[in-house]
Amino acid sequence: MKPPRPLVPVDATHVRDGGRVLWYAAGCNYLGWSHDPRLIAAIAGCFQRAPIQPGASRATTGEHADYLRAERTLARFLRQEAVVLLPTGYMAALSAMQGLSAHATHVVLHPAAHACLRDAARLSGLVPIVGWDGSANGLQALRKAWRRGMRWVAALDGVAPARGDVADVPALLAALPPDGWLLIDDAHGIGTLGRRGRGILEHHGVADDRVVLTGSLAKALGVAGGYVAGNRVVVESARRGDVHVGTTSPPLAMAAGVMAAVGLIREEPGRVRALQQRAAWLHGELHEWPGVHAHPASPVFAWIPGNALAARRLARNLLAAGIHPPFIRYPSGPHGSAEGFFRFAASALHEWEDLKRLVAVLRANGT
Ligand SMILES: Cc1ncc(COP(=O)(O)O)c(C=O)c1O
Repeated sequence: MKPPRPLVPVDATHVRDGGRVLWYAAGCNYLGWSHDPRLIAAIAGCFQRAPIQPGASRATTGEHADYLRAERTLARFLRQEAVVLLPTGYMAALSAMQGLSAHATHVVLHPAAHACLRDAARLSGLVPIVGWDGSANGLQALRKAWRRGMRWVAALDGVAPARGDVADVPALLAALPPDGWLLIDDAHGIGTLGRRGRGILEHHGVADDRVVLTGSLAKALGVAGGYVAGNRVVVESARRGDVHVGTTSPPLAMAAGVMAAVGLIREEPGRVRALQQRAAWLHGELHEWPGVHAHPASPVFAWIPGNALAARRLARNLLAAGIHPPFIRYPSGPHGSAEGFFRFAASALHEWEDLKRLVAVLRANGT
């Protein structure tokens, strides 16, 4: 596979590709914060007043009050008892599963879970229960294998990163065996789902001690890093685990960025609403078209071309309309997308005329 060409971000909704500036409806900067001067100033200010990082694991001599402040800020935002920060979202999944492994015996993995959860399950030492189809009914059916004394972790993405499906958390909790845990990777839910952008639990109106959240701060929050959030016992187990203990503390600017980004979401809930309106509109326009995978609450949708010719035709037509063609290959893509697919993502900052232009090109193209 050829490595992708580098793109130069121009602003939250445009990229430079070679000599051309193209409209951009891809990536994960859903709220546009990555380009926001207030967030950039908070991060730049941190680099000016503090070292890049304390130079040791937080579990040894690298602890800093800013990490603790950022964790409290994020815990309050997510309505969770506790949070631990990790340098990336991928590591956060490993850390969450490591924390849970002290309180569980078995792991059940969604068949399309992100690679970080698959690796987390593999490394956890928990006994795998195979055969879950990812549905609540499928989890219920697997309960035949449950025995007294077992504690299962069912692990899945809150929002599928390339298909946009949103997990049915209430149904999954109802299907969970006694003493079970639901580990949700909410990398694409934080900042995009729920009235205030608090993510998948706010979207469903659920608060449940059996849920442990993990996710990335590099997507809607526009910063970098990852988090484990949930009840204090599991989060503290993650904090004591090797993934967290064996890692040099992340850049302090990450903590400054998280606090600033959460502040922006609180101050401007209209940004989350703007994203959700655009996502719902795109879903309404496109979800019945062949090859489209979309969910009304999710800013992400996929378009699987019927064949290589159709893919090339769509890429050509998008370019002719001044739109970047986001053709990608990604491990947890929609069914039938092994040869690649177009992954589109709405931004709160997209102009309506541009979204209409995108829909017109897609509709004119067929599949
Ligand atoms: C669902 C999901 N989980 C985790 C990650 C990893 O997050 P990060 O890029 O912060 O390591 C990604 C990222 O690309 C993702 O899509």
